[in-house]
Amino acid sequence: MDDRFRFVEVSASAPQKMCEAVREGLKRDERTLPTRFLYDRTGSELFEQITELPEYYLTRTEQSILEDRSDEIAGAAGENAMLIEFGSGSSMKTRLLISALLRRQSVLHYVPIDISHDFLCHSSDGLLSDFPQLIIHALGSEYFDAIEHLPVHEGPRLVLFLGSNIGNFTHEQSLEFLTRLRRQMRTHDRLLIGIDLAKSRSIVEPAYDDSQRVTAAFNLNLLARINRELDADFDLNNFEHRAPYDEDQTRIEMQLISRVEQVVTIDAIGESFAILEGEKIHTEWSHKYTLDGFARLAQQADLKVSRYWTDCNEWFATVMLAP
Ligand code: TRP
Repeated sequence: MDDRFRFVEVSASAPQKMCEAVREGLKRDERTLPTRFLYDRTGSELFEQITELPEYYLTRTEQSILEDRSDEIAGAAGENAMLIEFGSGSSMKTRLLISALLRRQSVLHYVPIDISHDFLCHSSDGLLSDFPQLIIHALGSEYFDAIEHLPVHEGPRLVLFLGSNIGNFTHEQSLEFLTRLRRQMRTHDRLLIGIDLAKSRSIVEPAYDDSQRVTAAFNLNLLARINRELDADFDLNNFEHRAPYDEDQTRIEMQLISRVEQVVTIDAIGESFAILEGEKIHTEWSHKYTLDGFARLAQQADLKVSRYWTDCNEWFATVMLAP
């Protein structure tokens, strides 16, 4: 099995970066903690649980689109395609595309890119045993660091960015991400992006504040992680998870609200932070899109929508972009 698996670590090792980013974020007037650190092993596992919650419609809706359309998508990718995936996580949805591509070609090179290294190796194991014609070249990396390290391939490359993960970027970041990816793409390469479509608050909000409180645990795990890795003393009971939907900006904001006035010390940074009662720490955006709005964003990055697929409620869309 080993000769079908290669792992390359692209991003510089985390602790130093995390230290800087946490310090910088907590010093801002509007405090923020960097989104990408939500995904350590525990965070990734909690996220897997989120995807199965009744309120979290995104994963199963996207899955249903891929179930119905994976053969069409594979066809649109072209002959002898390579599959690249940003934020592969457990690679569950990707299995549908892998199967569809392997109905059209005898070998498939798959390049999963994820920041959670052990999660990456674990899910690759499963894929390699289920798909004997698969070759995996995994990149342990943050999204932006990986863009200039995508392997070259003779045939077309199909680059996946599923789960509305692009919505977790700010507008500027999503534009930068698409623009830099575009520069690496040749004419026959395609991007396949999953986007959550704008819809009523009564559907969106529960998806980010579920009754079993798994999303709350996921958000709070960021503090637990900083405690573990940066020797901090966040008391998780002193913070409350919130996720309001801003209808004008069509985005969820994940926040941690301080329940009390408190001082938190982070030894690895060598500093303490005085946090007021009711003060907010921003942890993540989750943008929702209209198809037109997303097409305009793509166009700014010199990409055009070549096809798209939605579910019957038009809750989610899978959009194929071409140079
Ligand atoms: N991109 C997905 C979304 O925005 C997954 C996700 C990222 C998420 N961070 C999250 C889901 C926090 C729940 C909570 O929905």
